[in-house]
Amino acid sequence: MQLQDIVQTYEKDLAIVESFLQKEQDSYVKLIPEISNHIIMSGGKRIRPLLLMIASDLFGYRGEGRYPLAAVIEFIHTASLLHDDVIDHASIRRGKTSANRLWGNAASVLVGDYLYATAYKLLTESNNQTVQRLVAWATTTMVEGETIQLVKSGDVNITEEEYLAITEKKTAVLMAAACALGAVLAEAPESSVDLMTRFGMKLGITFQVTDDTLDYVGLEEEFGKTIGMDIMEGKMTLPLIWSLRQGPPSEGEGIKKIVAAKTADDGEVKEIVDFIKTYGGIDYALGRAGQFVEEAKAIIAPFPESFPKNALLALPDHILNRNL
Ligand code: FPP
Ligand code: MG
Repeated sequence: MQLQDIVQTYEKDLAIVESFLQKEQDSYVKLIPEISNHIIMSGGKRIRPLLLMIASDLFGYRGEGRYPLAAVIEFIHTASLLHDDVIDHASIRRGKTSANRLWGNAASVLVGDYLYATAYKLLTESNNQTVQRLVAWATTTMVEGETIQLVKSGDVNITEEEYLAITEKKTAVLMAAACALGAVLAEAPESSVDLMTRFGMKLGITFQVTDDTLDYVGLEEEFGKTIGMDIMEGKMTLPLIWSLRQGPPSEGEGIKKIVAAKTADDGEVKEIVDFIKTYGGIDYALGRAGQFVEEAKAIIAPFPESFPKNALLALPDHILNRNL
């Protein structure tokens, strides 16, 4: 199933989510909608709202309760990107100059706070404690993930397990929450909520591992972010973690020094990309992402035949094979 077919099926629902996003991000303090519009309208793929729609559809729920919740998740995602770009000193997001670059760190943090608070305002429309707990779990876990990553920044001895734990926390939980919320809205049994959580986790890890690979080998125009950014920030991701284990220590030591210094220039970034390519880091990371794709699909496989089932089966491959 093509991604386009999936998006088209939920087009009307996503348009309603869009109207929630537009309406709720507004404020009389004009700097707030100016900045939030910059990021909200910058071509985000709305994967998380889509996941919530498909997951609730899988369990037979197509009610109004989906829209504000999908907006809650997208607001949290957007807020986290505003904050993340400050943390990472990013210059480009979704192919545009990032908000922190255009308006500065203080404004970016504040508008991130506004969108995060807006998410919680919208969340009060749901009286369901399971829903509220899921959202709170996702956000606290994301902050934990980012904080572990911060503590580990420049640590060149980070293991694959540590990397995957960070990935799960900073990225995958929000996708897991989006999927789980669909099942909760449909009043599906706890075991189904668990299945959706696990599926979202696998999908989220696939997304981040692919993203981290594209950081080395993507094309800036397609990826919409600066290539080699992770190295410049001292962030060790799977392709490099693997290649350092494979390559000769004598070569690895030089690479480690560059990463730990967090001041890599274009030449050093190229040196590291070449090192990773030589020792198979890209293939390994994509292969590992492929395993998560299979694990995600295996969770969905036992469900009876339906459109949402096939959509969930198709999504992991699209995430793995994307180039942006
Ligand atoms: C992108 O990672 C960032 C995240 C997946 C999560 C960021 C989370 C926070 C800042 C904490 C939560 C904050 C709020 C307001 C809920 P990346 O830097 O690897 O990816 P990138 O290349 O897209 O920047
Ligand atoms: Mg970042």
